Amino acid sequence: MAGAKQSGPKSAAKKTGGVQVAPATGKLGVMVVGMGAVATTMIAGVEAVRRGMAKPIGSLTQMGAIRLGKRTDNRSPLIKDFVPLADLNDLTFTGWDIFEDNVYESAAHAKVLDKETLEKMKPYLETIKPLPAVFDQFYVKRLHGTHVKQGKNKRELADQVIADIRAFKKTVDRVVMIWCGSTEIFMEPSAVHASLENFEKGLVCNDVGIAPSQIYAYAALCEGVPFANGAPNLTVDTAALIELSKRNAAPICGKDFKTGQTFMKTVLAPAFKARMLGVSGWFSTNILGNRDGEVLDDPQSFKTKEESKLGSLEYIFQPELYPELYHDLYHKIRINYYPPRGDEKEAWDNIDIFGWLGYPMQLKVNFLCRDSILAAPIALDLVLFLDLAKRTPELRSIGIQEWLSFYLKSPQTAEGLYPEHDLFIQSMKLKNTLRHIMGQDLITHLGLEYYD
Ligand SMILES: NC(=O)c1ccc[n+]([C@@H]2O[C@H](COP(=O)([O-])OP(=O)(O)OC[C@H]3O[C@@H](n4cnc5c(N)ncnc54)[C@H](O)[C@@H]3O)[C@@H](O)[C@H]2O)c1
Repeated sequence: MAGAKQSGPKSAAKKTGGVQVAPATGKLGVMVVGMGAVATTMIAGVEAVRRGMAKPIGSLTQMGAIRLGKRTDNRSPLIKDFVPLADLNDLTFTGWDIFEDNVYESAAHAKVLDKETLEKMKPYLETIKPLPAVFDQFYVKRLHGTHVKQGKNKRELADQVIADIRAFKKTVDRVVMIWCGSTEIFMEPSAVHASLENFEKGLVCNDVGIAPSQIYAYAALCEGVPFANGAPNLTVDTAALIELSKRNAAPICGKDFKTGQTFMKTVLAPAFKARMLGVSGWFSTNILGNRDGEVLDDPQSFKTKEESKLGSLEYIFQPELYPELYHDLYHKIRINYYPPRGDEKEAWDNIDIFGWLGYPMQLKVNFLCRDSILAAPIALDLVLFLDLAKRTPELRSIGIQEWLSFYLKSPQTAEGLYPEHDLFIQSMKLKNTLRHIMGQDLITHLGLEYYD
């Protein structure tokens, strides 16, 4: 990207084959694993937008514009008019859950969207019924699944998910899978994840290192279906599944939707760093009362979430580069399950910073957010962009789609590469990727040509 000019004949040679991106014709099938608060808010939201009942606020694919060429060119089309994305009218939803509730019932239970809105769409939402899930309580302690698949080993369960995907494929033109299921217990990669061969043996011998989320992901990738991971679970962040993703041209991304507190962190921390302000402490606490909060009340699931939330500051501040400013940073995160609040999470951050000559200051952030209202457009965008990646020759076989880090708390990257957490760098990376695949000049913000 460095040194690329903003436009003009000289930089035309840098243009790559935008013509190669295949059009988004026909139906896009969206397979959602876990039809709880986020999933139902996304599905009901898409239907509300399709009916003209509401606007897709928070969705970059639906509302965002992208500047092309010079600032003086006045060319800023909507992203959805610039890249060939599936139209919302062409989305068909299905999925899995450990409970039998249809999307209407599950959305009513989640209490994110008001009753009146849901009632209007009831006949449609009732038609989306989850398939029986792959589930094992060992990996999510607080849930008791009743609507689950049976099999003699994990291989058989994977084959059943593959059969579900194949059946769905007959009804649509393309498929994407997204994990909106619960946070599983904390797991680290082990020998079973080191290669695809090991993983496939592990499926047969029921290796404990293979959690249900990995079984869905494996099935998707076997079928060439892109997979997004909205939870902090290990899932596709292993050598074995990255190998499968590349082999079958099934793009992947993860982990963990970047919605409330971490979203704010990755906005504020880059600002402190840009101004060379020190940070000695960052205390973050949350109350939430939805099912996600209940699952995270289990220490082993919380550990998975905590790891995902902790990473961002360390990478943004680069304490090894700026030891006087960030070496002694004390970072603490708490999530408290508090049922009265439901999905309306409240987050507090106390940030102890210091400036000129070391004088201390404080910043307090109190975010009264709605968890799933923030997450739903992210889930939608990930689905649409992964489908775009699958239709883009240059992206489809590279495995991890790092340009989608913008949406994720703990972005997956190639081995040995540190993740980019700064929201504005992530945003530039995403938009430059779109410009690149469409054969447009990248935007570097150098801008010297305006002063020639
Ligand atoms: N809401 C947010 O802002 C947000 C942000 C970041 C990440 N997340 C993550 O997204 C996920 C979904 O969040 P939510 O608020 O919708 O939670 P939720 O509890 O409302 O929904 C999760 C659903 O997944 C189902 N499930 C669990 N294990 C399953 C399995 N093996 N197969 C199929 N279904 C399974 C549960 O029954 C439940 O219906 C969680 O992991 C959460 O941590 C949410």
